[in-house]
Amino acid sequence: MQKRDGFTSSIGVTLATLGSAVGLGNIWKFPYMTGANGGASFLVVYIACTFLVGLPIMMAEILIGRHVKANAVESYKRLSPKGQPWFLIGVSGVVAAFAIMAFYSGVAGWVFAYVFKSIVALFTGTQATDSVAMFNNLVNDPIQPIIWQYIVLVSVGLIIMMGVAKGIEGTVKKLMPVLFFLLIALGIRSMTLPGASKGLEFLFSPDFSKIDSTVILMALGLAFFKLSIGMGTMTTYGSYYRNDQNVPTTTLRVMLADLLVSMLAGIAIFPAVFAFGMEPAAGPSLLFLTIPEVFKSMPMGGVFQVLFFVLTAVASIGAMLSLIEVPVAFATETLGWSRKSVTVITVILLMIFGAPAALATSVTKDWQLFGLNPFDFYDYLSSNLLLPIGGLAICLFAAWVWGGKAFKKAMSNDGALHNGGIANIVVLLLKFVTPLLILVILLQGLGLI
Ligand code: TRP
Repeated sequence: MQKRDGFTSSIGVTLATLGSAVGLGNIWKFPYMTGANGGASFLVVYIACTFLVGLPIMMAEILIGRHVKANAVESYKRLSPKGQPWFLIGVSGVVAAFAIMAFYSGVAGWVFAYVFKSIVALFTGTQATDSVAMFNNLVNDPIQPIIWQYIVLVSVGLIIMMGVAKGIEGTVKKLMPVLFFLLIALGIRSMTLPGASKGLEFLFSPDFSKIDSTVILMALGLAFFKLSIGMGTMTTYGSYYRNDQNVPTTTLRVMLADLLVSMLAGIAIFPAVFAFGMEPAAGPSLLFLTIPEVFKSMPMGGVFQVLFFVLTAVASIGAMLSLIEVPVAFATETLGWSRKSVTVITVILLMIFGAPAALATSVTKDWQLFGLNPFDFYDYLSSNLLLPIGGLAICLFAAWVWGGKAFKKAMSNDGALHNGGIANIVVLLLKFVTPLLILVILLQGLGLI
């Protein structure tokens, strides 16, 4: 096999993993899902899912990838006993990558459009336009969303083609801290708006009567989506890990940092929602309606708004690179195609599958797939079905097929780290608790039990 690319430093590994986790999931999806599902009580279920389900699976995926040092399909195939089809985990991952990218690139397109519109507004002094009208003008247009989506896809394709450029890793490394501080500043501004306390109450005081099996399935799906697990992204990234990387600490750090970014986004958004009398359950439009309002009421708001959307765009690119890397690594290594042609084919396919999602509020709004428009269909199919099912298969595979002993050996870097206690807990979770939780939540959420 050809010599594989890999991450070079420990901090590089952590940041690349974090770069995959942090994205539109934190800034766009987390706030709107929390808003639509009752606020704090959803947050509690979500956090429980990240600890009991997310962390163990993330460790399993990374360890498997690092052990085999191959793409997702190949990794599961090589560790499987003869005749057992565990490589299907990787195949489902390739399908999930397409489904997620189809709508994700559409939303990233909105973000790119907002960068452009915010810059124009800065120069023409039209900052104070109505944010509802601005959003509707964009998404109800039959052409604009698709143009922005294609710009996103081509940009991501070009970066991937250059071979997961050091450029983007370096850029993400420098810009992520800026996004962090900007979110803190925005949070402070939002919290000091008149009437903001209602927003914090919504985010932090749980009302458990709002929880039902559908809400729990959504929280589980979000946990998978957020940590980029259940479809081989982390297996693929794991294959680029160094052998001396401390996997348990890395995953814990990534998870906590990711949660922090989501919380900051929530703290920036919800006080503003209530202060401006908006609807917390507005859905996917929430970010785009509230954030411009907060900036409007801030000195130099126009400049900060440009910065905010630029950084969100950068975060979304880091996540999309890790999504596309799954089919690209598979097709180049296993099928032996060139990275360039694989990337071109992938981007073209994404343009075809993605267009109906980008146009889901205009041209294709009456298209129905299982009662959902194309955008919601891709989202539901990936977050609520493919990722949890993939995750279930991954824990069963790691704990029972690969086996607890091999898992513990890999987790301790062949005995170099003394983490036997934690390893025992993680194996116990992977063997019984995590799969059972996923199974029950999945079946209940789908109304099957
Ligand atoms: N975690 C990213 C976000 O929150 C999205 C993402 C990247 C992803 N790679 C993934 C989701 C793999 C599921 C699977 O924006």
